[in-house]
Amino acid sequence: MSKLQAPRGTTDILFNESEKFQKIIDTARNLSKSYGASEIHTPIFEHSGVFKRTLGENSDIVHKEMYSFNDRSDNELTLRPEGTAPIVRAVLSNSLTQSLPLKLFYAGPMFRYERPQKGRQRQFHQWGFEVFGVQNPNIDIELLSFAWTYFEKLGLKDKISLEINSIGDKESRDSYKAALVDFYNLHKESLSEDSLRRLTQNPLRILDSKDKGDKEINKGAPDIDDYLNDTSRGYYDKITNGLDALGLAYTKNSRLVRGLDYYNHVVFEFKAEGLGSQDAVLSGGRYDGLVKTMGGPEMASVGFAAGVERLGLLLGESEQTTKPIVFISLDEKCDNYTLSILNKLRADGIACELTYSGNLSKRMKRAAKLGADYAIIIGEDEMAKNEVCIKTLSTGEQAHCGADKIKATIK
Ligand code: HAM
Repeated sequence: MSKLQAPRGTTDILFNESEKFQKIIDTARNLSKSYGASEIHTPIFEHSGVFKRTLGENSDIVHKEMYSFNDRSDNELTLRPEGTAPIVRAVLSNSLTQSLPLKLFYAGPMFRYERPQKGRQRQFHQWGFEVFGVQNPNIDIELLSFAWTYFEKLGLKDKISLEINSIGDKESRDSYKAALVDFYNLHKESLSEDSLRRLTQNPLRILDSKDKGDKEINKGAPDIDDYLNDTSRGYYDKITNGLDALGLAYTKNSRLVRGLDYYNHVVFEFKAEGLGSQDAVLSGGRYDGLVKTMGGPEMASVGFAAGVERLGLLLGESEQTTKPIVFISLDEKCDNYTLSILNKLRADGIACELTYSGNLSKRMKRAAKLGADYAIIIGEDEMAKNEVCIKTLSTGEQAHCGADKIKATIK
């Protein structure tokens, strides 16, 4: 039988890797608290309509990447490919629009049927931050500075750059789309099949095309910058002025359109060096129309999501952060005495491991393998005196102390 393997594009997250994941998410979760966010958990699957109606029929996600299925009651369901639409659904289902502004933090697995490669998986993880009910560019600036502070906390700031664009309000986008249609109509015979379809449905998507020929044509396409009306231009300027004032670096990229249809005004991507083609580690923007599209009131909304696996690649090999104290009971008679000491230390939040078999040297090897700095060795002599023997693995030094003095002695 061939070796059992996880499905293509999925991975088991093991040991140190799992600790790294926790650090990536916990750092974000803690920071989100200083921005006043509450954490939200939504289901991993939703009615397919939650995504079809919102991400855009022509987005790659809806067109070819969703994991959709009918359950036994014939409900059409989809494993969530992203977190924003489900959160809007949850905001509406739970009538959370009553007390605004609302700031929500989330983290969890997402699913997209993409071609797996470095930094791109079929099951991947995001953490994200969404804000509802604030139509003020200060919140966009706060979100961008949240991201920069986050990268600083992870020690990644020097590897990251921010690209930002405004795709304007509906009026600006409509006049830009008209200009794009005129332009692409001149190049119709050279456009890829996908882009021809996009031309009638959402020409903005063509700017995002990965097709070689399309990319060449795109070089001459009109620039959104020339189609922003005063409101859109004003909103964008206020944000870039804020970033300047805070000393936060950014590059304007007028071709950045993002792969989802719900955006308006400002969109952004934080990109990282050394990740190859899948280099966007945190991305998002404003999506003021989405709550209404999903049947709610008119509501200003803005947010972003970060890719946990991509951040993990940037952090590189992680060091083991939890080093257990390893316990060695030399005689069965000492087992209960050993267990009682172990229990107290664990209740105090100290990681402990018990060894179960083998002679002393084998058990010491086990302690080294577990990454321990100290082994506690307990024989009949130690038990009789209510003591333990502490061995420092790096030096081989041994010392005795009272059973209740282990913490103090190790410190
Ligand atoms: P997105 O750009 O599709 O946006 O995904 C956000 C991040 O998730 C990306 O920047 C990337 O780091 C990571 N990511 C996406 N696809 C994969 C994949 N197949 N494998 C590994 N990592 C991946 C959204 O999902 C929006 N909901 C973001 C947002 C929130 N906009 C407003 N609020």
